[in-house]
Amino acid sequence: MGSMPTSHFSGLAAPPRDEIFELLGQFRRDTYPERVNLSAGVYCTDEGEPMPLQVVRQAETAIYQAADPHRHDYGAIEGDAAFLALARDFTFSTACSADRVVSVQTVSGSGANHTGARFLADNLRPRRVWLSDPTWVNHDLIWQTVGVAVHYYPYYNAKTRSFDFDGMVAKLEAEAEANDVVLLHACAHNPTGLDPTQEQWKAIAQLCQRKSLFPFFDNAYQGFASGDPDHDAWAVRHFAQLQGPALEMGVAQSFSKNMGLYGHRTGAFHLVTTGEGSMSAARESITANLAMIVRSEFSMSPRFGSDIAKTILGSKALTAEWYTELQVMSSRLISMRKALYDALVRLGTPGSWVHIVNQIGMFSYTGLTTPEVVYLRQKYHIYMHSSGRISMAGLNTKNVEYVASAIHEVRSNPSVMTSA
Ligand code: LMR
Repeated sequence: MGSMPTSHFSGLAAPPRDEIFELLGQFRRDTYPERVNLSAGVYCTDEGEPMPLQVVRQAETAIYQAADPHRHDYGAIEGDAAFLALARDFTFSTACSADRVVSVQTVSGSGANHTGARFLADNLRPRRVWLSDPTWVNHDLIWQTVGVAVHYYPYYNAKTRSFDFDGMVAKLEAEAEANDVVLLHACAHNPTGLDPTQEQWKAIAQLCQRKSLFPFFDNAYQGFASGDPDHDAWAVRHFAQLQGPALEMGVAQSFSKNMGLYGHRTGAFHLVTTGEGSMSAARESITANLAMIVRSEFSMSPRFGSDIAKTILGSKALTAEWYTELQVMSSRLISMRKALYDALVRLGTPGSWVHIVNQIGMFSYTGLTTPEVVYLRQKYHIYMHSSGRISMAGLNTKNVEYVASAIHEVRSNPSVMTSA
C-alpha cells in the first residue's frame, strides 16, 4: 500500500473566524438560564424571542395563497425589476430621477457591499477606500477581497464618546485623493450608534464634491433607527440631490433589520450616476457589468425575501402597517437605552453612561474594555463583541437589571477580573 499523498491544504493557515457569528453560536450552545445575547444585531421582543413582523406574515400568506406556478423559477440575473424599482424608491424617493440609478438585486447588505465594491474596484479603480474607524467588521474584509487598499478616517472620539467630525474631515482633506471611495453609514452607525448631524452631512457631501471622492453608503437600518424611513434616508437623499456637480455614488441596501428578513438575504446595490451625456448606453453597460459579477458569483439572488419586500412595498396598506411596526421596534430599543442608563446611574456604577442614551439604532458602543467583556461572558454568560459593542435588541425588561448589576460589579471592582 502506497503512502497517502500530502494534501495541498495541510499547511493552510486558518483566518480568524467572524467574532459576531462565533459569539452567536456560543450563546446558542450555552444552557445557563440567565444567559444574555448582546452580540449580533438581531431584533428580539421583550420576551427575548425573535419577532417575525406581522406585515411580513401577511405578505407570506398572500404569496402562498397566490400559489404562482412560477414562484420557484429562476429569476433574472440582475434581479426582480419590480422589487428593485420599489427598493430604489424607498431609498431615494424623489431625491434624484429614477433614470440616474442602476440597481441590481443582491444577497442582502453584505452582498450589496461586495457587489458594489467589486464593480468599483474593476471600473472606478480607486487607489483607496476610506472606512470609518471603527466600522462594521465585514467592510474591511470585503474591500480587501476586491484588492483595494483599505485606509481609515477617525470616527469615534473615545474620550468624549462622540463622533469625531473634525478628525474625519481633517484626515480626508489631507490624504484622500480624487476617485478614492469613502464608505459612509447612512444612519445608525455600526458599531458606535453615532451619526453626523444634518449640517455635518452637508459638509461631508461638499468635501466629496470638492475633492471628487466617491461616496458609498451602507444603508442597513433605514426606518429601524428612528422609526421613520424618510428621516433615516436624509443623508443618502441629500447626497443624491446635490447639483454643481452632481455626485455619483453607491448605496448598499439591506432589508435584514427593517423587515426582519435576516436569513432571507434580501437587498440591492444602487449605483447613482450623474445622468449627464448619453446615459441610456451607459446604463445598459453598467447593468451588464453588474450582472456579470452576479452571474459569476451566485447567478442570482434568492427570491422569497424579495417577494415579501415587493408585496409590502407595493401595497399602501401594508407599507403603512410596516411603518407602525418600525416604530414599535425602534421605540423598544430607545426604551432599553434609557432602562440600562437609569439602572447604571441608580447603582452608581463608576464612569459616565449618558452616551448610551445619546446613541441611536441597534447598537451601543459602551466603552467596556475587552477584559471586562471577557469577564462578563465567563462569569455572567453575557455575550457581547470584544469592542464593547452591545446590541440593544438583546436587552429587555427582564434582563436589563441583571446586565447593569454585572457591569456594576466589574466596573466598581476591577480586581475581580484578575481573581477570576
Ligand atoms: C451585526 O453587525 O451584528 C449584524 O449586522 C450582523 C452581521 O452581519 O454582522
